[in-house]
Amino acid sequence: MNSAKSSDLHTDPSLFPGVEVYAVAGNPISHSKSPLIHQRFAEQTSQRMHYGRLQPDLDSFAQSAKAFFAAGGRGMSVTVPFKLDAQNLADVLTPRAQLAGAVNTLWMTEGKIFGDNTDGAGLVRDLLAQGIALHRARILLIGAGGAARGVIGPLLEQTPKSLVIANRSSVKADELVRLFADLAGSKEVALESRTLLELEDPIKTPRPFDVVINATAAGLSDESPLSTKATINIFVPSSFAYDMVYGKSTVFMQQALQRGARVSDGLGMLVEQAADAFLLWRGTQLSTIINPRAVLSELRS
Ligand code: ATR
Repeated sequence: MNSAKSSDLHTDPSLFPGVEVYAVAGNPISHSKSPLIHQRFAEQTSQRMHYGRLQPDLDSFAQSAKAFFAAGGRGMSVTVPFKLDAQNLADVLTPRAQLAGAVNTLWMTEGKIFGDNTDGAGLVRDLLAQGIALHRARILLIGAGGAARGVIGPLLEQTPKSLVIANRSSVKADELVRLFADLAGSKEVALESRTLLELEDPIKTPRPFDVVINATAAGLSDESPLSTKATINIFVPSSFAYDMVYGKSTVFMQQALQRGARVSDGLGMLVEQAADAFLLWRGTQLSTIINPRAVLSELRS
């Protein structure tokens, strides 16, 4: 493949004649579970396809992705740190990708690159599959970066009672509240911002939350966005704490457990967002055959 500045890890479509080729692009990418997940979806639905890994250099996502599609690649999952590059690359964006401000799924149709974002839908489906009620729930979303922005629209669609976006600095959280104010208004959801410090204050944050979602990457560096004081304020035993990070029990999850709350990591979101991407690529009629929860069980075993 003509992508001088990327590590092509078995993704060159010309090496797989007669097979439709897909890939996940990220940097780093060697740890990615996406190839296994998509292989299982392909087996479940009897689809003949190959799904590999692509690691573009940090400054050459567009070049690598264009080369992949030019060589016949059919679709691409996009992960850290390229979701914004993917949005810029796409010729056509779905409305939810526009709202999310990022793209995690690309595909080529009639010479055009389409971009969508399935992260938020994946999170919502995983929460619902775990029996978490979102309608009329009081939800706290921690973080105001790309990961948080990507899930706000789908969370609002579930018509919670309120959605509070909390961030270290208020500027980015305020910006997201402004961006989603119309959607929140149309769904009659109280959308508010807080600083992390305000979560400690029983006057600013007088009630605990039903669902608390950590959309910061603090867990990757063994940190939590929450102070102990904040955890006392926001968690009760009926709370559900969800960390988008997966593969480890994070400090955030430990804090929630200590308050008696139920917890989950983000592995289910990873599998569910992949399921949506698979259906976009291979056809929504496969939605009744595909079994993401079986794949999740296998990954957890
Ligand atoms: P992503 O695309 O993963 O969301 P990002 O856009 O860089 O990445 O956003 C990172 C988010 O995690 C931000 O909300 C950041 O808070 P600031 O805006 O105040 O920087 C938050 N974050 C990262 N590490 C954190 C930590 N240790 N404690 C609290 N918040 C953290």
